[in-house]
Amino acid sequence: MTKKPAKKVRAAPLSAPKGMHDILPGDQPLWEKIKKTSKDIADFYNFLRIETPLLEKAELFERSLGASSDVIEKQMFVLKSKGGDELALRPEGTAPIARAYIERGLSHLGQPLKLYYEGPMFRYEQPQAGRLREFHQVGFEIISNENDPIYDAQAIIACYRLLQDLKLKDLDLQMNSIGCAKCRPNYKKRLVEYYQNKEKSLCADCKRRLRINPLRLLDCKNSSCIPLKKDAPNILDTLCSDCKKHFKKVLEFLEEVGISYNLNPLLVRGLDYYTKTVFEIFTNGFDFALSAGGRYDYLIDFLGGRQSYGVGGAIGVERLAEVIKAKEISLFGKQRPKISLISMGELAKGKALALVEALREANVDVAESLGKDSLRAQLKSADKIGSEYSLILGQQEVFEQSVIIRDMETGAQETVPIKKVVEVIKRKLR
Ligand code: HAM
Repeated sequence: MTKKPAKKVRAAPLSAPKGMHDILPGDQPLWEKIKKTSKDIADFYNFLRIETPLLEKAELFERSLGASSDVIEKQMFVLKSKGGDELALRPEGTAPIARAYIERGLSHLGQPLKLYYEGPMFRYEQPQAGRLREFHQVGFEIISNENDPIYDAQAIIACYRLLQDLKLKDLDLQMNSIGCAKCRPNYKKRLVEYYQNKEKSLCADCKRRLRINPLRLLDCKNSSCIPLKKDAPNILDTLCSDCKKHFKKVLEFLEEVGISYNLNPLLVRGLDYYTKTVFEIFTNGFDFALSAGGRYDYLIDFLGGRQSYGVGGAIGVERLAEVIKAKEISLFGKQRPKISLISMGELAKGKALALVEALREANVDVAESLGKDSLRAQLKSADKIGSEYSLILGQQEVFEQSVIIRDMETGAQETVPIKKVVEVIKRKLR
């Protein structure tokens, strides 16, 4: 008896790591559009592009984001290099920029120095809607010798206009000031006093926060902590005169450019490097922030640089893409090529290929299906995509060094010398 061949065991397919995703071809146009719009915003407001490594020394983030921040406590992807260095996949872009600013002496590039970046960030989060382990940010930072409130407004304007240029309406800009080293301790003291006899009702995280970082109590989303926030002292009442003046100016600048905002005294942000202005931008129907940021006047000093002041904001690209898709925002007009190129016969194919290149040089979009040979099939697809004109090249045209231009609406045809066709078609499209 012949032995049956052993059944091939198929290996179990692998999936992407939890909370990480592929950006598939179908999503590329939207991603390209977001990146292009970000670049246009950066160019218009004179932000220079910077790229920093995906890996940084873990210490950079430990020193800047605060030991008690969620990112440091729970969310960093840390690995040990063969040389024994502890490296972290960057969880955000501001600390690496502050590091590069000091290390590369970037203050010489301009005052203020306006930088923009985009790329992946990594946080070990519990994946859910709008919360991933690998996500992308576009960010704008302004670093300067002065802590002029105009820069706070300019950083916010860049983030806000980016969202607007991507046709997002119903934006809700939430603003707060969390004070400075002078006034914040007073507020913390008042906050601790307020919470002290309520400690039993707090969640386990907040019990700990009460001792190490009481400001974060205002940030807690736990159902047992939310009701307690209502009567908590308002941070805006405890700001020193300098912080008050600064915040007032920022708000006035925003009003000047017609950007409306809502004050949210509970907005404290999860990263410890912030001082004074903090902000988040939301859109109707989603409970996550599309963009967030604030001022960080001590960060460069913390990291060993000369006193400089910074302010910036970042936009989450996945969140943005999700919202644009869910709201069915149409960012792509019917930008179909107005010209279709049709060829018949082997000889014509080569000439048609050369004509595609000539049209590209002249910046004229052209659709073609040179793999097909039938005139009818090619005319049909030209019609389907709504081309205004077809350029037709057959044996005879090759022989006569000419091209037929067919008006797809009227069916009228004219023959022009191949050397002149680009010029003629450009004129017609105008
Ligand atoms: P952030 O609030 O941690 O701030 O992040 C900024 C934005 O990145 C968020 O508003 C959100 O859109 C997006 N984002 C954050 N975490 C995730 C996640 N796990 N999944 C998907 N999207 C996420 C910063 O990172 C600061 N560096 C912003 C800044 C710039 N501050 C000053 N300059």
